[in-house]
Amino acid sequence: MVLTGLKGQRVLVTAASQGIGYGAAQAFLEEGARVVINSSNTDNLAKAQQSLSQFGEVHSVAADLTVGADIDNLVTKTVGLLGGIDTLIYVTGSPQPGTMMEQDYGTWESAARLLTISPSYLTKKVAEVMITQNVKGRIVLSASDAIREPEPNLALSNVCRISIFGIVRTLARELGSHGIRVNAVLPGTIKTGRIDQLVQDISKRNNVPEAMVMSRMVSQIPLGYIGSVDEMSKAFIYLGSELSSYVSGAVLPVDGAMLRSIG
Ligand SMILES: NC(=O)c1ccc[n+]([C@@H]2O[C@H](COP(=O)([O-])OP(=O)(O)OC[C@H]3O[C@@H](n4cnc5c(N)ncnc54)[C@H](OP(=O)(O)O)[C@@H]3O)[C@@H](O)[C@H]2O)c1
Repeated sequence: MVLTGLKGQRVLVTAASQGIGYGAAQAFLEEGARVVINSSNTDNLAKAQQSLSQFGEVHSVAADLTVGADIDNLVTKTVGLLGGIDTLIYVTGSPQPGTMMEQDYGTWESAARLLTISPSYLTKKVAEVMITQNVKGRIVLSASDAIREPEPNLALSNVCRISIFGIVRTLARELGSHGIRVNAVLPGTIKTGRIDQLVQDISKRNNVPEAMVMSRMVSQIPLGYIGSVDEMSKAFIYLGSELSSYVSGAVLPVDGAMLRSIG
């Protein structure tokens, strides 16, 4: 039997006060890892740390991923708390729903900070620590199915998250000789507050009941149901542990077969 080998491993999970990031933090704690969680809101973060503490050793560092100095501080404090980083699970916040034509310069700038610059800069800072400490670490970036098949009404995400492909393919090659692996996961439709927000938005825009929007969403998923945070977390555990020791540069959809395209 192959074991995850995560007991005692040092894991940083960003955007983890709720939803996908929270679920990932819980899964690593249940595997015996030592975890730092992050989010931008100190109250939310304190509540999450409190509720996750039943599963193991969990610390928290507040940082806004759209601010470079906060990312510097997040990495420095994580290393101070854990001694180093073996696995980075990068999750981030959500841009506002909307079409291309509804955006202005400010919304593009914010989305680029949240979805393009933050993963690029954070992965670089974490990789520096791994290289300095000679850690054969794992970096897992969570993006969205929308980077393979753009979703109507999610223009900011469709455009800015495509960078995750660039980061994975570039960094996996740059860091391969250090034994550091870089992969990504693409959530499809996972039951969190974000899905509730999207359902409300589509319902208002199209003047249809939320229940109908939800049932249309489900009808797009061949497995026939919306995925759970637990199901998402299994992919993080796989790519964030030695279970995936020969996998790097991969982009794994976790979407109940929703993507239709080849390649
Ligand atoms: N759920 C899905 O089906 C799905 C599908 C595809 C992609 N995604 C994407 O996956 C990511 C996580 O989704 P989710 O469903 O877990 O969303 P969620 O439940 O709304 O959680 C978002 C998390 O991001 C944190 N956050 C927001 N802005 C931040 C910032 N500037 N710096 C640090 N943390 C920040 C929030 O914490 P604070 O408010 O405490 O800062 C919260 O913990 C999002 O980018 C979402 O768009 C989700």
